[in-house]
Amino acid sequence: MPSDLSPIDKAKFISAKRAAQYVESGMKVGLGTGSTAAWLVKCLGEMVREEGLRIKGVPTSTRTAELARDVGIEVISLDEARWLDLTIDGADEFDGELNLIKGGGGALLQEKIVATASDQMIVIADAGKKVDTLGAFPLPIEVIPFGWQTTQALVEETLVSMDVLGRSSALRMNGETPFLTDEGNHILDLHLKRIGNARQLALVLNQMPGVVENGLFIDICDRVIIGFGDGRVEIHDIGEGRVDAEHLDLAESDNLFSDLSD
Ligand code: A5P
Repeated sequence: MPSDLSPIDKAKFISAKRAAQYVESGMKVGLGTGSTAAWLVKCLGEMVREEGLRIKGVPTSTRTAELARDVGIEVISLDEARWLDLTIDGADEFDGELNLIKGGGGALLQEKIVATASDQMIVIADAGKKVDTLGAFPLPIEVIPFGWQTTQALVEETLVSMDVLGRSSALRMNGETPFLTDEGNHILDLHLKRIGNARQLALVLNQMPGVVENGLFIDICDRVIIGFGDGRVEIHDIGEGRVDAEHLDLAESDNLFSDLSD
């Protein structure tokens, strides 16, 4: 096994590699965004090139689209696909009900649209993403640039009556300028510390003018695949209400690691 990958990267790779086994020829697949999803895209590219896997991929960001094309995956738009068999994506946090915080990479809007338009959503993650209660990771919300400071003030005021521990928020920056999403919007990161009622918060946030979408994914994820640096995998399935443990042989992945770890 190559020594240059950190244990976290190995864990991300392992979860992506196991998730790729759910992808079958003929499927239309939503391709997530982020470092874990990038491993997935690379694994699927390998399967397309080496094993003749035939899929159409719907990327959730311009950077995932670029990577997917680079590794040989046919890319189509969501409107061309209309409905997807499966979406595989990373997450910033997930709880015991497989509710998620997403948007650390700023792609939550397209990610949520794509995941919602899929028969199934699988989340791939390292064990550090598992939490008892969502909220330690700042909750991203996408807001339109027009009047964003007014929207921010309204959001903070609304949080007073919500079951959260913190209420401060920050405009996400990209160096000296505000971060822009693929849709040309801004991101506010809400430092809530603990979200007591994620379902209620998600509904309330989306009712506010200026808020386009929030990073809470409620009842969208069906399965979480947690990878560990030593090859262990846990598959948490919400439908079947159980956790399966497996082990992937990392030695067999030596070529993949060296091919994919650019
Ligand atoms: C992108 O906007 C996010 O939702 C990512 O899926 C999330 O931040 C996980 O990213 P990593 O896999 O890089 O941790």
